[in-house]
Amino acid sequence: MNNTIAVIGLSWGDEGKGKFVDYIAQKSDIVVRYNGGNNAGHTIVANGIKYKFKLMPSGAPLEKECVIANGCVVDPKVLLEEIENLKNLNKQINLKLSSTAHVIFPFHRILDGLEEKTKGNYAAGTTKRGIGPTYSDKAARWGIRIFDLVNPEILKPKLEKLFKIKKELINIYDPSWNVNFETIYEEYKKYGEQLKPYVIDTAFYLNKAVDDGKHILLEAAQGSLLGLDHGFYPFGTSSNANALGISSGTGIPPKNIDKIVGIVKAYTSRVGEGKFPTELFDETADKIREQGHEYGTVTGRPRRVGWIDLFNIKYGIMINGVDKIVITLLDALEGINPIKMCTGYELEGKTLESWPIQSETIENCEPIYKSFDGWEKKTREEWLDIAKKGYDALPETMKIYIRAIEDELKINIAMVSIGPDRRETIVIEDINF
Ligand code: GDP
Ligand code: IMO
Ligand code: MG
Repeated sequence: MNNTIAVIGLSWGDEGKGKFVDYIAQKSDIVVRYNGGNNAGHTIVANGIKYKFKLMPSGAPLEKECVIANGCVVDPKVLLEEIENLKNLNKQINLKLSSTAHVIFPFHRILDGLEEKTKGNYAAGTTKRGIGPTYSDKAARWGIRIFDLVNPEILKPKLEKLFKIKKELINIYDPSWNVNFETIYEEYKKYGEQLKPYVIDTAFYLNKAVDDGKHILLEAAQGSLLGLDHGFYPFGTSSNANALGISSGTGIPPKNIDKIVGIVKAYTSRVGEGKFPTELFDETADKIREQGHEYGTVTGRPRRVGWIDLFNIKYGIMINGVDKIVITLLDALEGINPIKMCTGYELEGKTLESWPIQSETIENCEPIYKSFDGWEKKTREEWLDIAKKGYDALPETMKIYIRAIEDELKINIAMVSIGPDRRETIVIEDINF
């Protein structure tokens, strides 16, 4: 029996975490986002509706208790819009927002863009949502938290100090930036009033829920390779987008995290910059991009695509302590033949033992591939029909590919996904909430 299960992306994000958080949420009581902010874009397709969440945990369509925990950074405007959208769909909002999550302000967004410009070749190609600058302020201990936001008398003096220094900084690059303090303060004061009913100490709430035997589903944003401490630095994000971020991001002690489910995409996608050894630039890339609808949920940027990289995924499995994996977007490889799988890297004629983590080293690595027969193109109805029939109905060549991933990673596959819809899911082994 597992009471707390985490869903983690094992690559560069957009692996299909949203789909599987929604799927597993069917058996959960509480769904928790514990890192990142509105740099994330999590898609769920259920009962004919497509939801795209940036901040709301993916338990919202099922009206589960949803927690935005302390490890997140929150743009209040974005969160309020998502609440409004859900209300318009007649969804009940069961949100708990951590009083110690940090708040994103307009100057964080501006600084995000300015910092990127000065980073040159080391720019990550951020979403420009102010994520890095907000986490920087948190680490520098002058960040503004949700508690401050909902208490205007505390907010005002803190924001005054922060605003002054940020304005001076921005004006070095852009002397024309002349936003008025009162405008920002009044805008954020209103956000605070609107968000106040949701604000609690989520660490206390979640630990009580653990004690009460509630089923808690923890939703990572981004992916393991984008993680701050154990990812592809500096081409990642500013939070621990992996299982290691759960305890600091929620206050749930490590000993109470029972199971880690890693989401693996059938190929690799990447938004933003940095070397991507298995990247494709030919018509196969265009085909995968179209078939997988690989355009960023947040920024609309075409995603870079390439073959699956089991070498860096293995590193993620080690870092996250993954118990089971889920393979997604298998249908998006339809009609592609052969399909390649990277199982290792070669550097200066030598096969590496472990993914080399340093971006400068990875630049010089060559992927080692295995080749697999592909499967035929099908209609959406045909994929749905296969999903209804179950694992045995999958194309034989797809089963060989799936089992090769399992053998290479030495982790059992819990589920596979052959379409965006909740119903286009095949359970191989129950993950036993
Ligand atoms: P997340 O950030 O990990 O939650 O993933 P995104 O939602 O950003 O990107 C995954 C995209 O693939 C979304 O558009 C999903 O609806 C879609 N998707 C998820 N699983 C499948 C699948 O098995 N097949 C297809 N064709 N699309 C999928
Ligand atoms: P989900 O949760 C894919 C990437 C950006 C950039 C780097 C840093 O949907 O998987 P940031 O704005 O976080 O400072 O950008 O990280 N990135 C993502 N890529 N999916 C995401 O989220 C991402 N969130 C950030 O493209 O390279
Ligand atoms: Mg996404």
